[in-house]
Amino acid sequence: MRVRVLGSAAGGGFPQWNCGCVNCDGVRTGTVAASARSQESLAVSADGETWFLLNASPDIRSQIEAAPQLHPRRPRHSPLAGVVLTSGDVDHCLGLFCLREAQPLVVASTERVWRGLAETNALFRTLQRFPGHTRWLELDPEQRVSLPTADGAPSGLTVQAVALTGAPPLHLRAGLAPSELDNIGLLVEHAEAGAVLAYFPGCAQIDGRVRNALARADAVFFDGTFWSNWELKEQGLGERSAFDMGHVPVGGAEGSMETLQSLTQQRFLIHINNTNPVLREDSAERRFVEAHGWRVASDGLELVLGSTGARSA
Ligand code: MLT
Ligand code: MN
Ligand code: ZN
Repeated sequence: MRVRVLGSAAGGGFPQWNCGCVNCDGVRTGTVAASARSQESLAVSADGETWFLLNASPDIRSQIEAAPQLHPRRPRHSPLAGVVLTSGDVDHCLGLFCLREAQPLVVASTERVWRGLAETNALFRTLQRFPGHTRWLELDPEQRVSLPTADGAPSGLTVQAVALTGAPPLHLRAGLAPSELDNIGLLVEHAEAGAVLAYFPGCAQIDGRVRNALARADAVFFDGTFWSNWELKEQGLGERSAFDMGHVPVGGAEGSMETLQSLTQQRFLIHINNTNPVLREDSAERRFVEAHGWRVASDGLELVLGSTGARSA
């Protein structure tokens, strides 16, 4: 299985347009050791020809242009066959609307996420310009679903949802009680190559189910949004905690570094918020993460998983 990190930052990106925090200002002026990052999304493929996006970020157009494997092979063509969504958050969905140019696509998500997109949302009709334009594939945590190519043939990849403690997208929170299907983790499998990718960009609670799912994977991408629970408040940038926003912090006794110590496969933090000190390559927090065997994902990172040999390019 081929994997490319299209974007590794949380919603807003790094730097974020309306943020002058230490990291955002520092990366603009070149005074911190950090690289700019676009909003989180992965591209995955069994054969290197047909690709699926895991989340469709608002930065999708420049992410596709930066990835040669996603360029058209002939006039009016795209190697993209579909998009798998882990939530209905704007940073995961907005890119869908940028893929509206008459290209049939499969969108795989939970029913909750699909309804949030398609119901009472006139903008969604731009993805339904002709019969078969956008075909929905339901993800149900009990089932492994085969991802089809545009003509309906199997792509070689399957995907399984892992239900997570989370919250509805901010714009749907009023009147909608949280559900485990608002926000999911993904296990993407390329059975022929014997490769499994775990993709968990938003996870509020590391329970046995999460641990078991991550243990099955050859590579793990996990929620690296915040270093600490009160990071936004401490920097004077917000009132909400990491847990309340649906993200387990990286540091601290309850954080992902401590609670996921048993993992041994290659593992990456992704969906990094611009306030997170792990973005700075010379920070104590970055050293801590690396000492625990984790890397901070960066845009353009590529992996090959499975029988062709697990290596990072
Ligand atoms: C999140 O990851 O918590 C959301 O993307 C926040 C948001 O929608 O702004
Ligand atoms: Mn987000
Ligand atoms: Zn910032």
